[in-house]
Amino acid sequence: MNNNHWYKNAVFYQISVRAYKDSNGDGHGDLRGITEKLDYLQTLGVDCIWIMPIYPSPLKDDGYDIADYYSVDKAFGSLDDLKGLIRAAHEHDIRIVMDLVLNHTSDEHPWFVASRSDRNSPYRDYYVWSDTNQKYKDTRVIFLDTEPSNWTWDEKTGQYYWHRFYASQPDLNFDNPKVQEEMLNVARFWLDLGIDGFRADAVPYLIEREGTNCENLPETHAYLKKLRAFMEENYPGRILLCEANQWPEDVRPYFGDGDEFHMGFHFPIMPRIYMALKKGRYEDMEKIMRRTPSIPENCQWCTFLRNHDELTLEMVTEEERQWMWKQYAPEPRMKLNLGIRRRFAPLLDNNRRKMELANSILFTLPGSPIVYYGDEIGMGDNLDLFDRNGVRTPMQWDDSPNAGFSKGKPFSELVKGELSYQNVNVASQINGPGSFFNSVKRMIALRKQHPAFSGSNMEWLDAGNPAVAVYIREHEGETMLILNNLSDAAETVHIPAEQQTTYLDLFAGQNVAINDKITLQPYSYLWLVKK
Ligand code: BGC
Repeated sequence: MNNNHWYKNAVFYQISVRAYKDSNGDGHGDLRGITEKLDYLQTLGVDCIWIMPIYPSPLKDDGYDIADYYSVDKAFGSLDDLKGLIRAAHEHDIRIVMDLVLNHTSDEHPWFVASRSDRNSPYRDYYVWSDTNQKYKDTRVIFLDTEPSNWTWDEKTGQYYWHRFYASQPDLNFDNPKVQEEMLNVARFWLDLGIDGFRADAVPYLIEREGTNCENLPETHAYLKKLRAFMEENYPGRILLCEANQWPEDVRPYFGDGDEFHMGFHFPIMPRIYMALKKGRYEDMEKIMRRTPSIPENCQWCTFLRNHDELTLEMVTEEERQWMWKQYAPEPRMKLNLGIRRRFAPLLDNNRRKMELANSILFTLPGSPIVYYGDEIGMGDNLDLFDRNGVRTPMQWDDSPNAGFSKGKPFSELVKGELSYQNVNVASQINGPGSFFNSVKRMIALRKQHPAFSGSNMEWLDAGNPAVAVYIREHEGETMLILNNLSDAAETVHIPAEQQTTYLDLFAGQNVAINDKITLQPYSYLWLVKK
């Protein structure tokens, strides 16, 4: 494979830097802490780490509210520490991408401070101001538990400013060429430092136009293409990963003709994996994957089970959302905005079989998978913490005080109860051959050995049983037959005649002759390579 296409079959791992490992005892995870853990990440099989925002920030949105695009918040270390991390990661064959937050800044960013100081400020036009709060009325509010409107009144200058997230995150005005240029400079700065690419935050919202919902507009795509062209010209092999929480057909344009994003998160498949596990039927997964357009050869989807936000239910119907809340958010405090603020293991009742099956789905669907830190050991969450902080608690390294995360007082409460660090931690799982960690590690290793997984297509088979998802992955001359039994009962499937042959069962490590019928144990899965 062309090495510039490394992302097409890479395993990603998402890290909240503050929560991962504290190297200096100040209670905050830091860049040096991640450097200390590269051996661990290499053992797991990670190819690329996505580090969440490390920029100086007043932390009204955990760093997605940036006050300075050109440095590292002291709590995380220094630019030299980042360089050190990148160097050490590359020695471990691991790449590093970081968040690029284009859409908005913090209200403490000097541009906004200047912008709101005076209507005649040269920075006024860096943001979106209006005399009325009636513009762009067709635009939804995203943080609807806290924000009544996308407009906030500024007393001093007597106008409203526009924001798609918290009021403390004013939207930049991408109609202003200076803003467009500024953000290219930001990208250049981090690319020159050696970063391997960006997870571009909240990209659908860059441009506003009256009479639209202000999402996915052609002008937004035009700017993103400029950013890609700039990267292609100066930094080939570095990637742009698109965060657009949209339907597959609306994400498709973000790949352009292979000239916009290299990768895009597949948001809608995620809740449908949880739906399938609860219903014991695969139909919702199949429908959304059939609705997923094909993408250019040099692009790839990014799949995930959880991330640092609430489990979003934006990409389901109202009826499905109510159903998901009922199933997965039995306590009202588990809900947040249009989602569920819980982690992977608690969502699946810490049921080992379901947790493995969900990972089997993640690692066999088209797209490069992302593992959210801690989910590889099945760590818990803390619902007492505000907003999404309950899924961003310190990584559970061992059962020593503070989970081996810090020698000081951790920035956050830890997880309590059954899934706390006393019961769930890396040290107790890493050497246990039967541990959850080792199941995930094995899946990652097998996935990486097989080119069939690096394509972006799949073929669903009707095997006569709605409880068993059966599909074929084919790429570079290899064919793989995958079976995932979503039911809590043993289930039998009928394999179509064309697929009846000898396969290598990857987990058993031996050849099997697949005839008409196979029976799968509850929540079990098979990865079979056609001989
Ligand atoms: C990030 C969130 C963040 C928001 C605003 C997102 O989509 O994932 O964590 O709050 O953008 O930056």
